[in-house]
Amino acid sequence: MSARSLFDPMVDAYDAARPSYPDQLFKDLEWLAGRELAGADILEVGAGTGIATRDLLARGARVIPVDHSSVMLGRLRERTPEIGVVRADGEALPFSGAVADLVCYAQAWHWVRVPVAAAEAARVLRPGGALAVWWNDVDGEDLRWWERQQRRLEAMSPGYRRDYRTRPWADELRWTGLFTEVVMVSGRWSRTLPLDRYELWLRSKSYVQAIGDRLEDFLDAERRSLLKAFPDGLITEPFHTILTVARIPPSTPS
Ligand SMILES: C[S@@+](CC[C@H](N)C(=O)[O-])C[C@H]1O[C@@H](n2cnc3c(N)ncnc32)[C@H](O)[C@@H]1O
Repeated sequence: MSARSLFDPMVDAYDAARPSYPDQLFKDLEWLAGRELAGADILEVGAGTGIATRDLLARGARVIPVDHSSVMLGRLRERTPEIGVVRADGEALPFSGAVADLVCYAQAWHWVRVPVAAAEAARVLRPGGALAVWWNDVDGEDLRWWERQQRRLEAMSPGYRRDYRTRPWADELRWTGLFTEVVMVSGRWSRTLPLDRYELWLRSKSYVQAIGDRLEDFLDAERRSLLKAFPDGLITEPFHTILTVARIPPSTPS
């Protein structure tokens, strides 16, 4: 396992500008997992700088953040020094079996191979436990500034397509045969942030960094386009949050 991650050069932008997750997502997670987060033992994989970690801790969970990047975990520890972290790959978790009530991936499940990471999650879950994977996706289809941005990205970022994360997440988990119940729910919310912070958010995306030498041209064009849509420099960005929860069987009485 490499100690370096694609996200390492973006750690400052990531930490400063990535969105958190709405309260409703955690209510849905409790409902679908069939238990409260308070008191739950959670392995949170792809924890990054700890955005979701802190959301889970605030709800009373006991969280062990796992990430393959020492740089991202270093920032998490600066922000949240009271908990330990584990540097590891979601496809080979260094934990014994049946130790967690929940395995969570916030904005990170698309970085692992589903059959391998799902088997690892099922192995470390206690009977009746659940794997939960979620994302914030920008809900911009009807917005002209977002359409302009997506076209620019598709032209400038090698291999980028706006639907890169559109996959049958719930079906992929069902197809593993590891879970008795797989349910997906979604919700909508929005945030408003100043242009300079919005620019940091753009810089924290791997496909924006992939633009390479033309990154500043892309950001100049974005600034002009966004100021046309938001002349006061406050960008309102709508999100669509998708949560999939997959439960493993409860223990069978002997
Ligand atoms: C987009 S960030 C998400 C960070 C955080 N969970 C959040 O909610 O913002 C994805 C994180 O997954 C980590 N990651 C990617 N592939 C991984 C793997 N195979 N095992 C563990 N972590 C991984 C990256 O280092 C990065 O920190």
